[in-house]
Amino acid sequence: MSVTKAVIPAAGWGTRFLPVSKVVPKEALPIIDTPVIQYAIEEAAKAGITQVILVTSQNKRAVEDYFDRSHELEALLEGKGDEKRLAEMRRVMGLVEIHAVRQRQQLGLGHAVLTARRLVGNEPFAVFLPDDVVVSKKPAIAQLMAVFERRKGSVLAVTPVPESEVSRYGVIEGTKAGARTYRLKRLVEKPRREDAPSNLAVIGRYVLTPEIFEELERVKPGAIGEIQLTDAIDGLIKRQPVFAVELEGELYDAGTPLGLLKASVAEALRRPEMAGDLRHWLRGRLRG
Ligand code: G1P
Repeated sequence: MSVTKAVIPAAGWGTRFLPVSKVVPKEALPIIDTPVIQYAIEEAAKAGITQVILVTSQNKRAVEDYFDRSHELEALLEGKGDEKRLAEMRRVMGLVEIHAVRQRQQLGLGHAVLTARRLVGNEPFAVFLPDDVVVSKKPAIAQLMAVFERRKGSVLAVTPVPESEVSRYGVIEGTKAGARTYRLKRLVEKPRREDAPSNLAVIGRYVLTPEIFEELERVKPGAIGEIQLTDAIDGLIKRQPVFAVELEGELYDAGTPLGLLKASVAEALRRPEMAGDLRHWLRGRLRG
């Protein structure tokens, strides 16, 4: 069964981005001129996902509005004959069909995913954490989908991280099942460095079977007092095979100011109209 739906949790407060996140949702912050969340939506569309369920909260109007039509702006661009910008705006609106559901209380990532249950229904689905931006030839979620189709089990993305950073992530214990694939034995959310079963950290891409919802109903608040998706997947491992795939690509944590800045610089260096100028300026700054 192919995966055509994705859940994108976008309900958090974004406290790391205060003060700006008081008025601009962190998912709407730009990498140069493109909201962070658009990277996840483009990746989803490239991999054949047609429906996205955004899990939002108060103060996230800007995210929903971004993917909606703006008749005034379209009329303005039409009047100016700015066909290029008009076409780009329409392309973005047409990438996927967007549904939004409100998470009324921020009880954690697991709870956010559970909020989308009715809209997902009884089929496998993808989850994107939009803070994790992956720049790769093959879309990150498509790397997971390939494993899902072959192995017939849920799949999550991992990457090796320095031992000093494991406590920021979900961490896997698994056995090698292929060149970049692991079969999971156990999953721990934000372990202490000395308790981490490996240095393979979960990155925000998942393909999950619908049985995850039964596990999510069952799990109690875990790390940092929140209902964790990781704990529900750890429960799923006891019922079904679950896999992890080491992502290929450049990873950016756009959920922190420095990570967002790095993602922006990397993007600017890929854009021919700014790369030369930026490189020259950076060289000058670094010499000083
Ligand atoms: C979440 C997940 C964690 C994962 C991380 C990846 O944590 O709970 O398992 O490793 O995303 O970005 P958060 O970043 O919300 O604390």
